[in-house]
Amino acid sequence: MFSTLSAYAGDPILSLQLAYRDDPRPDKINVSIGMYYDDDGSIPRLESVQRAQKIVNASTAPSTYLPMSGSPAYCKVAQELLFGKDADILLAGRVATIQTLGGSGGLKVGSDVLKKFFPNMVARVSDPTWDNHRAILEGSGFTVEAYPYFNPVTQRLDFEAMAEYLHTQAEQTLIVLHPCCHNPTGADLNFAQWDEIVQIIADRKLLPFLDMAYQGLGESLERDAYLVRALVRADLPFLICNSYSKIFSIYGERCGSLSMVCANADEASRAMGQMQQAVRRNYSSPPAYGGHVVETVLQNAELRALWESEVDAMRERIQFMRLELHRGLMRFHPAYDWDFLLAQRGMFSYAPALAPHMQELIEKFGVYIIESGRICVAGLNTHNVERTAKAFATVLK
Ligand code: LMR
Repeated sequence: MFSTLSAYAGDPILSLQLAYRDDPRPDKINVSIGMYYDDDGSIPRLESVQRAQKIVNASTAPSTYLPMSGSPAYCKVAQELLFGKDADILLAGRVATIQTLGGSGGLKVGSDVLKKFFPNMVARVSDPTWDNHRAILEGSGFTVEAYPYFNPVTQRLDFEAMAEYLHTQAEQTLIVLHPCCHNPTGADLNFAQWDEIVQIIADRKLLPFLDMAYQGLGESLERDAYLVRALVRADLPFLICNSYSKIFSIYGERCGSLSMVCANADEASRAMGQMQQAVRRNYSSPPAYGGHVVETVLQNAELRALWESEVDAMRERIQFMRLELHRGLMRFHPAYDWDFLLAQRGMFSYAPALAPHMQELIEKFGVYIIESGRICVAGLNTHNVERTAKAFATVLK
């Protein structure tokens, strides 16, 4: 029956995570998958999350199915974090939001809904982007092409090429954008550049699909939402999915959301219905536990303030490790221009020059990076950063 099934080559990120897990070397270093580790190399259990878990665990409510769209309280706090509390657009009922299985679940449901109503729509993702963007969009039936984003020679954002490309796109082309902490490059647009992109989107009538997995890990929870707010100000329709995996350190709970920003409340209620149907057809309804933990943190003023300070601390530690990595690289290979690292933000740094050395880095030095040359700076700590810098410098010499 299954003799014609082809072998799966594996996922470039998740397969590496398994290889790392099975590597017996005690001094191995994981800077591959996008997960935040603390200075001891552990995935933190945030204090705010632990306290919310106690509250949720104490509940005697039975475990029933959530609605297809998830917990209403969760969707409300998700909206407020993205669009701002009491945003006019929320009060007007113009945003339809559902709870999803992480950011990936939001991408999948959004792509399915779009493809059903816009069968000829094509999608554009940044070059490079998170590998799963293309996979999910193609899985929903999209033809996907990449728009210029990063110049491997200057190792910086190529804004002019990006803007020029977007200008050439047909009406209703789906454009996947990373509002902050671009994955994999860590190279973000500044506010003025986002304003220009918003203008192009308006002029060309493009449809943005924002993927925000790192809100708060770039500059701040508010500033990282700049593009979201700019699109709202410009009164444009768009989709946004987000993830709480990293910023709540609850990867396995699969907590995210998907919002469709519509012209009016009537459109939004139909968008909601279509998302619900897509959810029902895919997995029926989201899991409840993680969502209740997230909503408990965000609804409770004390836990929320604690959580915000924990996000600040994660961001500051990542930034410190980026500086330490830069310092180490300057020490071990001063002839190389490492300053591009300082312009990058969020969990990742991107050094395409390391890409051809991935196997050597893993085999000889036990340093796991992604094949593109992406480095998860959040996997560095004061105990392994010098060895990582030395390994990078050695392979590039
Ligand atoms: C990553 O980019 O490493 C993370 O978002 C994890 C994943 O699912 O790929």
